[in-house]
Amino acid sequence: MEENMADGDHAPSAGLLRLYAAWAEGGAGLIVTGNVMVDARAMTGPGGVVLEDDRHLDRFRAWAAAGRAGGAQMWMQINHPGRQMPAALGQQTLAPSAVAIDIGSLSKRFPRPREMTAADIAAVATMPLMVTGGIRRREVAEKVVGSGIAMAGIATALAIAPDLPRHWRLGRPDVPTLRPIAWQNKQLASSAHMAAVRYQMVRLGRRRPAAPGVPPAWALLVSQADARCRARRYRRWMEKRAAA
Ligand SMILES: Cc1cc2nc3c(=O)[nH]c(=O)nc-3n(C[C@H](O)[C@H](O)[C@H](O)COP(=O)(O)O)c2cc1C
Repeated sequence: MEENMADGDHAPSAGLLRLYAAWAEGGAGLIVTGNVMVDARAMTGPGGVVLEDDRHLDRFRAWAAAGRAGGAQMWMQINHPGRQMPAALGQQTLAPSAVAIDIGSLSKRFPRPREMTAADIAAVATMPLMVTGGIRRREVAEKVVGSGIAMAGIATALAIAPDLPRHWRLGRPDVPTLRPIAWQNKQLASSAHMAAVRYQMVRLGRRRPAAPGVPPAWALLVSQADARCRARRYRRWMEKRAAA
């Protein structure tokens, strides 16, 4: 999951390493990182990790070591967000076509992208499939893998209970659940869900227990304040890079 917990240089921060240490200790078999951006001008969020060259290789090595400490494999998810680039970050958005994101009243948060040229678009590779979305029970994860899908991806549940795989192996029937969000506005409800999950990851990164009962409105406020602060920091960082 994209954690938005990079340090001031958009490298893996100490808190991010502690979050992955919690997941490593929790017994996961494969830890897929949140988005790691391959181009600092194209970000999915303001606190994203950027890997463009070997400048912060030692931090990336430490991050990999933290995630692998419990025997899990750790795969880095590299990403170019295309049109999913928040307007608040103040960069030009490039995407396969010049079609803006349509998410109702929140659409203005994402500018209309410029269409990439054919030369910009990399070939699509065939690869093993992973199913994600709502997997919180061991039986469901087993059913997914049993159906021939290569991997069952678990995001929200692991942000609440980093030791879920170990507990499942010990036969404990944990079903980690966030406080339900029954808001009419689906876009807002989805943002609040993301915020509530991020809230858990930040707590784990501070070595604090998850707080799945966090009121969604509070998580959303905290997340928006954090995003504003990180967006300002990101813009300053980009200005500094352009001036260097
Ligand atoms: C806060 C948050 C950040 C996410 N970041 C990513 C990401 O970086 N890359 C990705 O492929 N999916 C990302 N997702 C989607 C999850 O991987 C997953 O598909 C989704 O949350 C549904 O699975 P779940 O019900 O287990 O949470 C993110 C989800 C959340 C809640």
